Amino acid sequence: MTAEEIYKDLKSKLHDVVPDAELRIKSELAFEINKLKVERNAVILGHNYMEPALFHSIPDYTGDSLELSRIASKTEKDIIVFCGVRFMAETAKILSPKKTVLIPAKKAGCSLADGITAEDVRQLKAKYPGVPVVTYINTNADVKAETDICCTSSNAVAVVQSLKGETVIFLPDEYLARNVARATRRHIIFPSLTGGDPETDTLLDKPIIGWKARCEVHEKFTIEDIQNIRKQFSDVMILSHPECSPEVVAASDFAGSTAEMISHIKRTNAERYLLLTECSMGDNIMAANPDKKMLRMCSVRCPHMNEITMEDTLEALRQTKYVVEVPEEIRVRALNAVKRMLEIIPKAGD
Ligand code: 13P
Ligand code: SF4
Repeated sequence: MTAEEIYKDLKSKLHDVVPDAELRIKSELAFEINKLKVERNAVILGHNYMEPALFHSIPDYTGDSLELSRIASKTEKDIIVFCGVRFMAETAKILSPKKTVLIPAKKAGCSLADGITAEDVRQLKAKYPGVPVVTYINTNADVKAETDICCTSSNAVAVVQSLKGETVIFLPDEYLARNVARATRRHIIFPSLTGGDPETDTLLDKPIIGWKARCEVHEKFTIEDIQNIRKQFSDVMILSHPECSPEVVAASDFAGSTAEMISHIKRTNAERYLLLTECSMGDNIMAANPDKKMLRMCSVRCPHMNEITMEDTLEALRQTKYVVEVPEEIRVRALNAVKRMLEIIPKAGD
């Protein structure tokens, strides 16, 4: 597509969301990026949280963490440019070690990935020998390397169920763990590595052993937000991400991964919708479903996802930066946990 064709396409989708002057600039950038993408035999993967102009113009594939991991494991291209945060790009490298994996912003981290270290996991394993460790994909590669199986927000329940009712260590998201515990009717404990622990006989009930890291975005949503919105708009359908607190999830009409929220909105017919997740996704859904009314709570943004810009994506392709590397000894161990997750196909209704 020419820059003018990209502009027309973006304009038709985003006229209510992005000012015209910005669309003009972004169309030029998208044209340069897409040209270079072909020249360099690259594929661009875009997480559902990317800003609307980027999301609708340069990714070859968009999706949630699980969908993008599956695509990264299968691509034939030489270069994977990951428009998402670092743990996602690292997962792509773990799955496709022969490819050059680039992330456009050096700093795009995640409060959950920062919330636990490989040493913490080693200590938990020493405390609970033989207990399987499930880690959320929102972790660094060396943490994944210490664990038995990964999960994402779309398959966390299925992954825990695949462990057949055993006690599991589930890391590092406190709220996701609480939501999984509720869905699988298990109780949850939060041990301390420095003493003052729950009695070991609490393990007789096969609990989920959690950890207290949180997503700095989703922890901000409250029950009061939901009550206020429902007072103002009695016909609203509220969707939340399972990184929100269990109280918020329970008070929502639907909870699921970013991709699951998108499909839920597509297949339902509510008068209006509110997403309790990163705000850009609401813009992206509005653009894809012009007939749906979305309410917005845009004071809550993910600063890490927002690091990824089209300008930096162009520079990433021009200068082959920032190259994501995972030491081979860590990669092969992390790969086992990621591959084991990809083998789990959730049962309908999970
Ligand atoms: P999804 O896997 O649902 O896309 O979530 C990733 C994430 O970081 C949500 O905050
Ligand atoms: Fe991490 Fe939360 Fe940002 Fe997702 S929204 S990348 S979990 S900080």
